[in-house]
Amino acid sequence: MKLQLDRREATVGSVDASVSGVFERSAKDEALPRNLAKEEQAAGGLLAPAWTRRELTGKRKELTVVHRPDGKGRVILIGLGGASSVDADTVRRAAAEAVRSLKGKGVRTVGFRLPSFVSERVTSEAAVRALADGAMLGGYEFMKYKSTRDSRVEEATIFLGDGFTREEAALKKALEQELTLLDCVLWTRDIANVPADTATPAWLAEEAKRMGKEVGIKVTVFDEEKLAEMKCGGILGVGGGSIHPPRMIVLEYAGGARSGKTVAVVGKGITFDSGGISLKPALHMGDMKFDKSGACAVMGIMRAAALLKAPPKVVGVMACAENLPGPSAYRPGDVVRSYNGKTIEILNTDAEGRVVLSDALGYVVDKHHPDEVIDLATLTGACVVALGDDTAAVVSTDDRLARGLLDASAATGEPLWRLPLTDYHRELVKSDLADVRNSTEIPPAGVLTASAFLETFVGKTPWAHLDIAGPAYTNATTRKYQPAYQNPGATAFGVRLVTRYLLDAGR
Ligand code: BES
Ligand code: ZN
Ligand code: ZN
Repeated sequence: MKLQLDRREATVGSVDASVSGVFERSAKDEALPRNLAKEEQAAGGLLAPAWTRRELTGKRKELTVVHRPDGKGRVILIGLGGASSVDADTVRRAAAEAVRSLKGKGVRTVGFRLPSFVSERVTSEAAVRALADGAMLGGYEFMKYKSTRDSRVEEATIFLGDGFTREEAALKKALEQELTLLDCVLWTRDIANVPADTATPAWLAEEAKRMGKEVGIKVTVFDEEKLAEMKCGGILGVGGGSIHPPRMIVLEYAGGARSGKTVAVVGKGITFDSGGISLKPALHMGDMKFDKSGACAVMGIMRAAALLKAPPKVVGVMACAENLPGPSAYRPGDVVRSYNGKTIEILNTDAEGRVVLSDALGYVVDKHHPDEVIDLATLTGACVVALGDDTAAVVSTDDRLARGLLDASAATGEPLWRLPLTDYHRELVKSDLADVRNSTEIPPAGVLTASAFLETFVGKTPWAHLDIAGPAYTNATTRKYQPAYQNPGATAFGVRLVTRYLLDAGR
């Protein structure tokens, strides 16, 4: 979809569908609000009767479509809820609802009237960004395996109107930045949605290399032989059961500022998680093609950092392997030695994410000396139980880093909640046989015992772990309850969040 800014008022008939936000009416509102005068004009006077009959109320998610009597397109009103409750995410959701509602209806062009989305808590710049997010993310479909497609919106325009023409230059700049970021999000979704028959560790490495060439960042791929030389026993153990051997992929972006800060971004890249010998039940096992979402997010973040010239130096590490049972698979009871020399007692081969991450974390702190490390991983089912399937957990040993990520979450609408890591959890991952165990004797606090395990491999470097098991993807059922900008399949959660953090962190 093409998206642009236009300084004019949305003119009648210039787009197939003209979309405006409507704030919820109060009980005493008799007449159509004055700020809907332009819409009323465009709709040929058809809104007032709908308002009087209380069919049009501005309740959140209410969608009213009025076809112009002259046949020149339609006016769409999308309810935003009470004006004081509207935030950027309301606008993001509304734009996505509008675009999705037009799918298959032969609507090619859409216009958003900016003034109708600006409110107390949503500045014009935030509204422009949120409309772009909603339109681009809501309009996304994964097309690789479809031979036909329904009609869809191809061109969207944000009309500023008289009140905002003075801000045109600033808004244009914000929009350009947002569109670059969104391009990286959709690019990430396109990769994360590819199933494991195609998306093997080696395939991810090729994609990373191609992207590195495109945006000018260095990409190094460690294959199974090199990983053996490097003594990455974790990733080799987990990948042992598959004929598609593991890869560790390192991406380096040199940084846009002289601030000298280096941020490492590490991702779990399990191309398929069957559970291994500790086999998962069949129900929803297919969703485990999305167990590479953390690594895919790392690729998207690196691409965005390079294209947007983020201030810090960024090192991305993708820990990629396929977790399958087989004659050479690692087993419960095995002990593997990770890159940093620590030994891991394997008690459950389905707790494989932390095992591959142990090498990636150990490697990046040893070789790149980052000032901080952020990892993204679809790590535990426990996280989905704790926070639901829309929210990621952040576990961090560093308050400033955690705060920065929570601020980025508020700005992007990708929900994040901090959970506490304590000595209790550290105690639970100690092993009788080795340094740590990959699965604990008692099940509670699965997000935090996984975090205590990971901490062993980052040492003293400020670190934040994002468990994205919930929001990394949706399926046919969970999709219904998610905002319209989350498509079915991989969501690329974390790309907008962490990129925002990188853009702000260097300031
Ligand atoms: N990939 C899964 C976690 C997951 C579950 C992601 C649901 C997305 C949705 C992970 O490798 C796993 O299986 N974790 C185990 C850990 C346990 C064996 C300690 C889990 O959560 O059950
Ligand atoms: Zn698993
Ligand atoms: Zn997994």
